[in-house]
Amino acid sequence: VSREALIVVSNRLPFVLKKNEEGHLIRKSSAGGLVTAVAPVVAQCKGLWVGWPGIFLESGEKEPIIPESEDGNCTPTAGLLSKQIVPVFMEKDQFGQFYNGCCNGTFWPLFHSMPDRAIFFSEHWKAYVEVNQFFADKAMEAVDSLVQQNKDVLPLVWVHDYHLTLAAALIRKQAAEKGIRIKLGFFLHIPFPPWDIFRLLPWANQVLEGLLGCDMVGFHIEDYCLNFLDCCQRQLDYRVDKKNFTVEHEGRKISVRPLPIGIPFDKFTQMAEEAPRVVRESREKIILGVDRLDYTKGLVHRLRAYENLLTKHPEYIEKVIFLQISVPSRTDVKEYQDLKEEMDQVVGKINGQFSTANWSPIRYIYGSISQAELAAFYRDAAVCVVTPLRDGMNLVAKEFVACQIEDPGVLILSPFAGAGEMMHEALIVNPYEVDLAAEMIHRALSMPLDERQVRMTHLRKREKINDVNAWTANFLKAMDSSLLGIAAAV
Ligand code: UDP
Ligand code: G6P
Repeated sequence: VSREALIVVSNRLPFVLKKNEEGHLIRKSSAGGLVTAVAPVVAQCKGLWVGWPGIFLESGEKEPIIPESEDGNCTPTAGLLSKQIVPVFMEKDQFGQFYNGCCNGTFWPLFHSMPDRAIFFSEHWKAYVEVNQFFADKAMEAVDSLVQQNKDVLPLVWVHDYHLTLAAALIRKQAAEKGIRIKLGFFLHIPFPPWDIFRLLPWANQVLEGLLGCDMVGFHIEDYCLNFLDCCQRQLDYRVDKKNFTVEHEGRKISVRPLPIGIPFDKFTQMAEEAPRVVRESREKIILGVDRLDYTKGLVHRLRAYENLLTKHPEYIEKVIFLQISVPSRTDVKEYQDLKEEMDQVVGKINGQFSTANWSPIRYIYGSISQAELAAFYRDAAVCVVTPLRDGMNLVAKEFVACQIEDPGVLILSPFAGAGEMMHEALIVNPYEVDLAAEMIHRALSMPLDERQVRMTHLRKREKINDVNAWTANFLKAMDSSLLGIAAAV
């Protein structure tokens, strides 16, 4: 039997390279759940991770050697040796057209069903095709190197997210030409839109055919799977089986699977147990929001709901505080720059209107904090407001629940997040209904202890079972992979 080895292909590596004070390159690990769950599997099966290291080379500069990790065993990437990293260096200009232009100017808004925010430029698409080819070439080098070391190895290539929708088909083609047997899987971390939105993409056919290069395509929830199947049927006129979730393409049967991602639940619970109290012992109850500063997150609607609450329920003045953490994101893209300005204005207006001599209604942090610090905010908040207009899954909702180890708080959740499909015991509210959202915050703030306990107990139980390790295992199961044993032991 051949031994499988996992090759992960994602836009970002599980760390970025940074220069330290002496000018040496070091790794700065990213703390995401994907990395926490997948990096140990890559490490143990002696696999590889292909991705962008977060820096650009000067023209003519030689590609640097990836440094070993300095983290000891503290982070998941510490287990990944530099020889397991395949860096994809790109020119700044091309990367800009690919990442700011096509990925975040076109795909991101369109896949979140916000076509009016999407831009369509053929130069961006050209860069997208080239970069996908480049990633595919690097992934193929990775496949080659594993096969050369051990001809019995069966490479399992796992491509991630909307940056790389064309890569799988390109990898499959090269592997076929070389006569190398591989398995190919894809997972989309954002929504897959309905056909009437998807078809607006001038390159819709190429994207579908790119994804169908895989043996299995995974999405967070069943709705996204159905949208994808529908697109294959109506855009490409392909034969799809909506009962068994399969598509036929080039004589192969591709399976389409809902694989809802989870979080490292126990890790968050532990961080919540260990985190010092960061929010001063205040009289005010904390209403918490944690998001990248992204127009899909419904931030302006959320603040409007809060404004509405303070207007209709002045009894909350000096009794609650809205703590919004907004992480700077994609700051070279115009839509994100505009949102930053709008948020500054809305926060300023609400604070100006309701502040008293020793209280302001909103504490607004424009910056990112570590997950260890976040755990304390999650633990101490009375209410967490997760109200995206559209969101593939939303991990913040799950992390909040994992950190609720004391007097239980209340989760307010949008039905338009993937998480809203499963976290039934949250208070579900349509973020566009600002008045209702305000009443929902009121209901959360005044909910009796026994109801809060019942809701939170159920939410925690589900997220603990369906954590990120379960997600990795489910992916491997859907790929019929022998690496399942390794994943179970992580
Ligand atoms: N996060 C963080 N520091 C911050 C704010 C957020 O590390 O200051 C993390 C958070 O813990 C979560 C992730 O960013 O894991 C956000 O994931 P989510 O699925 O909610 O949204 P995305 O940013 O992927 O759209
Ligand atoms: C979403 C995407 C990820 C992406 C992350 C942060 O979660 O699904 O692929 O890495 O946002 O965005 P950024 O553009 O900074 O990578």
